[in-house]
Amino acid sequence: MADGSGNMTAMDLYESLTSQGELVRTLKTEKAVKADIDAAVKLLLKLKADYKQVTGQDYKAGCPPLESTVLEDTGPAAAVDGEDMVDPWNVSTTSAKGVDYDKLIVRFGSSKVDQELVDRIERVSGKKPHRFLRRGIFFSHRDMHQVLDAYEKNKSFYLYTGRGPSSEAMHVGHLIPFIFTKWLQDTFDIPLVIQLTDDEKYLWKDLSLEDCHRYAVENAKDIIACGFDVNKTFIFSDLDYMGASPDFYRNVVKIQKHVTFNQVKGIFGFGDSDCIGKIAFPAIQAAPSFSNSFPQIFKGRKDIQCLIPCAIDQDPYFRMTRDVAPRIGYPKPALLHSTFFPALQGAQTKMSASDANSSIFLTDTPKQIKNKVNKHAFSGGKDTIEEHRKYGGNPDVDVSFMYLTFFLEDDEQLDKIRQDYASGALLTGELKKRLIDTLQPMITAHQERRKQVTEEMVLKFMTPRPLDFNF
Ligand code: TYM
Repeated sequence: MADGSGNMTAMDLYESLTSQGELVRTLKTEKAVKADIDAAVKLLLKLKADYKQVTGQDYKAGCPPLESTVLEDTGPAAAVDGEDMVDPWNVSTTSAKGVDYDKLIVRFGSSKVDQELVDRIERVSGKKPHRFLRRGIFFSHRDMHQVLDAYEKNKSFYLYTGRGPSSEAMHVGHLIPFIFTKWLQDTFDIPLVIQLTDDEKYLWKDLSLEDCHRYAVENAKDIIACGFDVNKTFIFSDLDYMGASPDFYRNVVKIQKHVTFNQVKGIFGFGDSDCIGKIAFPAIQAAPSFSNSFPQIFKGRKDIQCLIPCAIDQDPYFRMTRDVAPRIGYPKPALLHSTFFPALQGAQTKMSASDANSSIFLTDTPKQIKNKVNKHAFSGGKDTIEEHRKYGGNPDVDVSFMYLTFFLEDDEQLDKIRQDYASGALLTGELKKRLIDTLQPMITAHQERRKQVTEEMVLKFMTPRPLDFNF
């Protein structure tokens, strides 16, 4: 009922207002004494004022408040919490260890991926958990237990993830959700939809529509090179699919009707001078969370649960989606959130394509990788070899060590590197070499797989069609 602090929540107020409104109407119809009617109207007005204060909106009968009034309370996605800023466009902190992810869980109201959940995923899937789960890289979730409960009762679910094609070259950080999504698809044998938001990049960047669409197709090649199964995966560009799918567009419009400008301002920090395309866009990123946006795959069913793997920066879109879902009769999508793959210069920011020196691109040559790591990767080592041997390095701020936690598969080797670096037995140059030796073959192999991706393959992945599942 109340929120524990004695304050009414938006939903409590909404319910009180609804019954108070009914009371006023009854009193008036029954021609009750004036004093009783006045008292009831006074309380109604007070409740309306409280409601406006809590939700930022006027009360409307039959229109319950969004859960996301909570979001507005916690501020826009870009809210600065101490030193950390995280939204779909910016990530920054002053801590060399990176964003405080435990605090972010509290601020965003998600749940921690704890050992119990990791064990449960192992039990249910019968597979060793991916290193991203073992190491807390996918650290936060919403409703994962619900997905697993249903899966245990033979109810399937589907995966949805995406990419905003802002340039031809993707960086290693972008691979994180796709590597993990591939593992989830292989592990649970479920359909996957991948949204390429070429419309989003056109609205946000100084790029032409044609370029954004071209980048979408180029990025699709990198995504396909991660090894997705064409019979189980649909990749789509918004610019193509929005016009081709009446069901998708119907969902976009339903979502748009249920989110106010105030709410997107609260969630995304939009201002009066932002173009209206930006303001309407979140509904387009929300729509693939509902299975009837893809009738060719789900045969019109609207009840298939969706699971979205992504980095935590995308969560604002899906908090909004989860608020809207029950009000338009759809299940809320579940989420698995990853931490950020840090910039070469340190974990104060995420690796970002807009800063070439911060990133290792999927197009980099072995030599470029070596030079970038040696030149730019922030080191937790001491200034001189003597000091390093004596005091040891700090793996918690060392970017090469952080990168190895993402990509070195062997837990024991990783642990030994941590210990040796912290004790001073392993020098910074040696640690960087371990990273270079891990990254070079990984990226070369990716480039080889990408070369095998033909235009026909891209066309097949991007054609709306049934997948190998019976719904
Ligand atoms: P975009 O292109 O910015 O990022 C694509 C995916 O990569 C994640 N990501 C990272 N993960 C770890 N470390 C990093 N340094 C890093 N940088 C980016 C993002 O969280 C994302 O999962 N609007 C979206 C596209 C989109 C989408 C989705 C993403 C549409 N629908 C559904 C996830 C799920 C975008 O511009 O992503």
